[in-house]
Amino acid sequence: MSLLNKIDSIQNKFSSELSSATNDSLKISELYNKYLGRKGLVSVLFSELSNVDSKEKPIVGQKINLLRNNIQKTFDKLDLNKAKTNSTSNVDLTLPGNHFFEGNIHPITTVLNDISDIFKSIGFSVFSGNEIEDEFYNFEALNIPKHHPSRDMQDTYYLNNKKLLRTHTSASQIHFMENNTPPVKIISPGRVYRNEDISVRSYCLFHQIEGLYVDKNVSFSDLKGVMEYFSKKYFGKDVKIRFRPSYFPFTEPSAEMDIYWGLESKSDYRITKGTGWLEILGCGMVDPEVFKAVKYDSSVTGYAFGLGIERIAMLKYGITDIRLLYEGDIRFLRQF
Ligand code: PHE
Repeated sequence: MSLLNKIDSIQNKFSSELSSATNDSLKISELYNKYLGRKGLVSVLFSELSNVDSKEKPIVGQKINLLRNNIQKTFDKLDLNKAKTNSTSNVDLTLPGNHFFEGNIHPITTVLNDISDIFKSIGFSVFSGNEIEDEFYNFEALNIPKHHPSRDMQDTYYLNNKKLLRTHTSASQIHFMENNTPPVKIISPGRVYRNEDISVRSYCLFHQIEGLYVDKNVSFSDLKGVMEYFSKKYFGKDVKIRFRPSYFPFTEPSAEMDIYWGLESKSDYRITKGTGWLEILGCGMVDPEVFKAVKYDSSVTGYAFGLGIERIAMLKYGITDIRLLYEGDIRFLRQF
């Protein structure tokens, strides 16, 4: 067959094959490769052009070009998106899929939510305070007057000479009591800031959950009972806790509660300063001076506590360096 005849026959074959392939995108793309692909029929024609007599070459070459353009135009006109895919033959349902990481909740948020749920289940409601406070709410109303040595316990970030970043959620106690009469039963979670040396145990910001219960005849044993209930609910019934006497200007008497962490590895020593115990909260009976500042009468009593969320997250998940919680390292965060 001469090359010219071959060109005609390819044109005819293409037209008939295309008409039987309409609306089947898989067949259409097969046809495309068969005719216009790198080793397709049209390129074969071009390669055969070298055998053609040099006088005829321009005419035959033009014809092949025409054929290629016609076929290309025909494909251009087809809307391949509209063509139906023959899905059963096209999709292999047994292939493993692509895995997309969904992102997850930060461990601090999880701990805040889980602990809040425990307190909500025993009648505490949630109150949000402010991260920016002034000296009255963060210190004075909490019985920490100017120049009181305990201001040094919490190195403060001042924003200007009036405003500061709260050093504890205890400031929320004052806001709530100013606007509500007893009985009061709230928790107040949030971020607090202290200008502390950064180490495995402490960071310049962290989270607390403040608790406050004020009513008639609230006693220290109520406080201990609630702290024990919370610890067992959260860490399991075998958790070991202990109370140590402590001092806060806004509670009297005051205590701190520790949870037993263990003392087996080097990092246990580092985290617990060699004691095996980790302090997770401060608490005590609300000092009468605080009730005076919010104009509550002296017939009420109450307890308050402040839980350290990072410490609890470390205990719960065995995190040995508090800084991991703020660095946003995806290798760490994906484990939760
Ligand atoms: N505000 C104290 C602290 O940050 C904790 C605390 C809260 C202690 C409530 C007693 C009562 O260390």
